[in-house]
Amino acid sequence: MDHFALADRLTKHHQSHLLVGIESLESGAQAAYLTRLAEIDWSELHHQLSVHTAGAVGSSRVLDLAEQTRRQTELTTVGEAAYRAGKVAVLMVAGGQGTRLGSSAPKGCFTIGLHSGKSIYQVQAEKVLSLSRRVGKAVPFLVMTSPMTDTETREFFAVNGHFGLAKEQVRFFSQGTVPSLDQHDRALLKAPGQLLENPDGHGGCFTALVKSGNLARLRQEGIEQVVFIQVDNILVPVDDPALVGAATIEKAEVVTKVLEKAHPDEKVGHLVKVGNHDVIIEYTELTPEQTRTKNEQGDLIYRWGSPAMHCWSVAFLARLADHGYKLPLHRSKKPLKAWVDGRIQEVTGWKNERFIFDLIPEAKVSIGLAIDRDAEFAPVKNATGADSPATATDLASRLYARWLKAAGVTVEPTARLEISPLFAATEAQFLAAWDKRTTHVSGDFYLEEDRKA
Ligand code: UTP
Repeated sequence: MDHFALADRLTKHHQSHLLVGIESLESGAQAAYLTRLAEIDWSELHHQLSVHTAGAVGSSRVLDLAEQTRRQTELTTVGEAAYRAGKVAVLMVAGGQGTRLGSSAPKGCFTIGLHSGKSIYQVQAEKVLSLSRRVGKAVPFLVMTSPMTDTETREFFAVNGHFGLAKEQVRFFSQGTVPSLDQHDRALLKAPGQLLENPDGHGGCFTALVKSGNLARLRQEGIEQVVFIQVDNILVPVDDPALVGAATIEKAEVVTKVLEKAHPDEKVGHLVKVGNHDVIIEYTELTPEQTRTKNEQGDLIYRWGSPAMHCWSVAFLARLADHGYKLPLHRSKKPLKAWVDGRIQEVTGWKNERFIFDLIPEAKVSIGLAIDRDAEFAPVKNATGADSPATATDLASRLYARWLKAAGVTVEPTARLEISPLFAATEAQFLAAWDKRTTHVSGDFYLEEDRKA
C-alpha cells in the first residue's frame, strides 16, 4: 500500500496520529512500522461485530452425567475407536500473557508447586504422551503461542526434549495480535514506531490455524476432531473417549463441556440456546433475576457454566474457513503501559480479543457435555488466592485421593498427592495400573511413570 493510501485509511479510521514523527525513525524500523499499519483491519476495531443472539433464550441440549452413565459403553467405544484410528488431535492455547499470574515467562513454563517440580507445559505434554502410548498413535499436539510466548515456549519444549513427545508431533503456531486502543479509540504505541498490541484472544486460534496451514494439514491427515484445551487448567483431560464419542455419535460440530454451577450467581459463561443457536453468555451480561430464570421443565436456563473445554469438528472449522469466516473482537477496559508524551505511562485503554466460543452459534449441531468439576477443572489464573497454583495443586491432590480411595487405599486428610499422567491419566487407568504397593497414604506422595509397564 502506498504512503498516501495508508495515510488516507488511517485518517478515515481516526488513526492519523500514528504517522506523526515517523520521519525520525531509522529506515528499516519505519518500513516495518508502515507494513504493520497497512496490515491491520482498522474497521473491525471500530465496528465490532456481534454474534447472533436474537431470539428467545432456552436450554441447550446437554448430555448430563446420568445420560452419560447410561450411554457410557456406546460413547467410549466410539471415541476410543476414533483415537485409535488417528482421527483426533489435541489443541492447546497458550498465547495469553498471564498478566494476573504476574510471571514474565509464558504461563506454561510456570512451576506450580507439584512434588515432581513439573511445569504446566510438562503436565499437559505428558497427558498427550500418555494418550499416544495408550492408543498406539502419535496424537498431534497443536500448541498455539503468540508473539509474546512463542520463542520461549519453543525453546522450553526443545530444551526439555519435548517432554518425551516426538518433535514432529508438537506443532507450534502463533496467533495474531491486535492494537490496544486508548479511551478515544486511538491506537497506542509501546515505543516510537511500535504499536502497543496484545494477542488477539484464544479465538485467535481459528484464524491462526487457517493461516499457519495447520487446519489444511489436519484435513489432509484425516483428523476429524480437535480436543481443545487451555494451558492453564492442569486437570483438563485430553484422553477423553466419551467427549470424542459424543461428538461423533451426535454429529456435533462442537461439543462444549459444561459444569453445573455451584450457585446461580457463579461468575462463569453459560451455555444456552438463543433462538436456534447455542451461545455462551457471560455472567456480566446477566441480571441476578435472569440467572434464576427457569425453563418449562423447571430447570435453571443458566444452569451450565463453561470451563472453556471443547471438541471441534475439523469439517466445521474447514467450512467456516472456506467461507472466510472471522471471529469478532470484544473489548475490555484494562490498565495498559503505553508510550505517551515521550515516556512510558500507565493508561486505561481497550484491549481487543476474539473468543473461541463465538464459533459455537455457527455450528449446525452443538451440544453440551456435563463434567464432574472436581475431576477436570483446576485453573491457574492468579498468583495467590482463588484459581492459583496453590488451589490447583490442592484440587489435583484431592482428585488423586479419590482415585486411591476407589482402590481401597486409606488417605490421610493431610496427604499431598501427585500422580503423573504417565502413570495414569484417568481414574479408570489408575485402577487398572494400581499395584497395591501401599494401603495407607499420608504426607507427600508421588506416583511417577510405571517404567516396568
Ligand atoms: P485467559 O483469558 O485466562 O488469559 O486465557 P491469560 O492470558 O492466560 O491470563 P491474564 O488474563 O492475562 O491474566 C485463557 C486461556 O486462553 C489462552 C491462555 O493462554 C489460556 O490458555 N489465550 C488467551 C491465548 O492463547 N491467547 C490469548 O490471546 C488469550
